[in-house]
Amino acid sequence: MNTPVLTFFNNKGGVGKTSLIYHLAWMFASMRKRIAIIDLDPQSNLTAAFLEEDQIFDIWNSKQEGSTVFQCVKPLLGVNDIARPVLQKITADLYLLPGDVALSRFEDTLSTEWPKSLDTNLYRPMRIISAFWQVMQQAADTIQADLILVDIGPNLGAINRSVLLSTDFVVIPLGADLFSLQGLSNLGPTLIEWRDSWERRLDHWHSSLEKKEHPGFLLPLGEMKPIGYLCQQPILRLSKPIMAYDKWVQRIPSVYREDVLKERPVPEMRQENDPYCLAIIRHFRSLVPMGQEHRKPIFNLTPADGAIGSHAGAVQEARKDFKLLAEKIAGKIGMTV
Ligand SMILES: Nc1ncnc2c1ncn2[C@@H]1O[C@H](COP(=O)(O)OP(=O)(O)OP(=O)(O)O)[C@@H](O)[C@H]1O
Ligand SMILES: [Mg+2]
Repeated sequence: MNTPVLTFFNNKGGVGKTSLIYHLAWMFASMRKRIAIIDLDPQSNLTAAFLEEDQIFDIWNSKQEGSTVFQCVKPLLGVNDIARPVLQKITADLYLLPGDVALSRFEDTLSTEWPKSLDTNLYRPMRIISAFWQVMQQAADTIQADLILVDIGPNLGAINRSVLLSTDFVVIPLGADLFSLQGLSNLGPTLIEWRDSWERRLDHWHSSLEKKEHPGFLLPLGEMKPIGYLCQQPILRLSKPIMAYDKWVQRIPSVYREDVLKERPVPEMRQENDPYCLAIIRHFRSLVPMGQEHRKPIFNLTPADGAIGSHAGAVQEARKDFKLLAEKIAGKIGMTV
């Protein structure tokens, strides 16, 4: 059976995708779920959160087959097949397939192969377009993962299209501003378009002669089901009254329904009551650099790390928040915790 893939996505940047995945991965692992984390953002921020720079340098420099996402798919640029992923063990239940700035080199190939996957010779294009999914599933297989968590960059390009058609469930993190709302509006129709065009390709594949020549070749379903959104709490500044944020935040329930789910807007629904809002993520202020410095999720910070006084309380709050969020997401994707 295939392992479910959960991707955090918004085409607005800097809305906390990478931080959320980092923290959720640790939280799921603490609940004894086995997690394969795949860093498909060429910026590799998630990899930098888990590994020391020297370690990343060694991995990139080794150019070992399968050592990063790019090193897994690179053989496809020639005549060879996908290389088996080599995962970095973070804890007993947490494994990472590192990202790679070189992954951007795969973007052109993905764009070129996309239209070809509707032609007659479609095995190779389909192999390339679904390469990320094949890599994710091999990675999950290696560690018998319960869940694959994927981080991507904030754009609607060919890499992200391939990631999304490999995705079963999508969570949409948002900020409390016009740009996040606009990102949400762009994202909805794009997800619908990607889902439909992948379905066309799957139909084409299943009715093709080539399918019979490759009986073991499996493909993702491309469901990319939105399971809800997360809203980052703004830092409240004296210069910008809370009303300014509230104006954008309260539009989210309607835009999410209209543009992402194709449902009727609900002007009366407030974001804090919206069942599609998975959580409001607090601004963790100075705990964030503290966590980064100690290479830990903020809910694992201790007094020895500097989390004393009011910080200690905030650490406990963060633990409660992320535990609730992990349980909520697990419920939505049918994973028992
Ligand atoms: N809850 C939070 N409280 C305080 N700071 C946060 C929080 N979440 C994220 N940040 C900080 O905000 C910045 C952007 O977060 P992050 O990198 O997770 O966003 P992103 O959506 O992954 O960005 P990109 O689109 O560039 O990939 C980072 O400096 C991060 O440390
Ligand atoms: Mg990021």
